[in-house]
Amino acid sequence: MDGVGQQPTNGADRGECIVTGASEGIGAAFARAVARRGRSLLLVARRGALLDALAAEIRAAHGVPVRTLAADLGVADGIDALVDAALADGRRPSMLINNAGFGLYGDVAACDERRLVEMLRLNVEAVVVLSRRLAPAMSGVPGAAILNVASTAAFQACPGFGTYAATKAFVLAFTEAMHIELEGKIRVTAVCPGYTESGFHAVAGLDLKTMKLPIMTAEDVAEQALRASDAGTCVHVSGLGNKVLVAASGIVPRALSRRVAGKIFRRNSFER
Ligand SMILES: NC(=O)c1ccc[n+]([C@@H]2O[C@H](COP(=O)([O-])OP(=O)(O)OC[C@H]3O[C@@H](n4cnc5c(N)ncnc54)[C@H](OP(=O)(O)O)[C@@H]3O)[C@@H](O)[C@H]2O)c1
Repeated sequence: MDGVGQQPTNGADRGECIVTGASEGIGAAFARAVARRGRSLLLVARRGALLDALAAEIRAAHGVPVRTLAADLGVADGIDALVDAALADGRRPSMLINNAGFGLYGDVAACDERRLVEMLRLNVEAVVVLSRRLAPAMSGVPGAAILNVASTAAFQACPGFGTYAATKAFVLAFTEAMHIELEGKIRVTAVCPGYTESGFHAVAGLDLKTMKLPIMTAEDVAEQALRASDAGTCVHVSGLGNKVLVAASGIVPRALSRRVAGKIFRRNSFER
């Protein structure tokens, strides 16, 4: 694990925004959108070179302090390193965006067990531990907010993508509980994107392009999610098309929704 990248530190007073999984995709879009609002940043992911390039771009474009940390949040050491960096020198973060995550396509029995467990650690354990450890320092910071990236997959069982969907169902339920527990201290929001252009689908081994699903850009997902966080929304589904799909999945019997989801996900793997 690398150390925290060198950077101006005067942003610490205003409360940094921590973005996990910021090296590409939705996380990078969050970083740019937060910087446009004049907030300082701590960017985290494993690929430090990508983080450093993004940090340089953001400093040049927006003049805000940006720190980077190359860390694997799927292991305890990586989480410890992030907490240490976030709280170093008495810092009190103002925002935590738990965005890092990945999916794993395939029936549970066919998935590599090591990768399944890595996914559980990153998508579930890191979200819980980071929220729990950072919330006390964030509490009372003006505008303090936690934004957890779930998914539209959180709303129904997804055969063929089942463990991933279950991790996001966890994130959704966990976030709803934290929203109440931290009321008046920290705004807590779950953002539920649907199909979003990013590196996610290549990592997951999933190709949904042939489906007539609403597709969003990472930039739109991030911008709308930040507005939902500002408004104190508990659960934000990204985009109108996804809102309609989620509403529909809430109306139809679960026995039907899991069959439909299974037909979508089990037919759409990349040839690997
Ligand atoms: N794209 C979609 O259609 C979609 C839909 C719903 C929800 N989501 C959720 O949105 C979030 C962001 O995904 P994305 O679409 O932006 O995917 P992406 O382009 O693949 O980005 C994933 C990010 O997570 C980081 N990451 C992966 N493993 C990590 C680890 N062990 N430790 C630290 N960072 C790690 C990656 O950076 P490094 O590889 O450098 O570590 C990368 O920055 C995820 O939680 C995903 O489940 C995505």
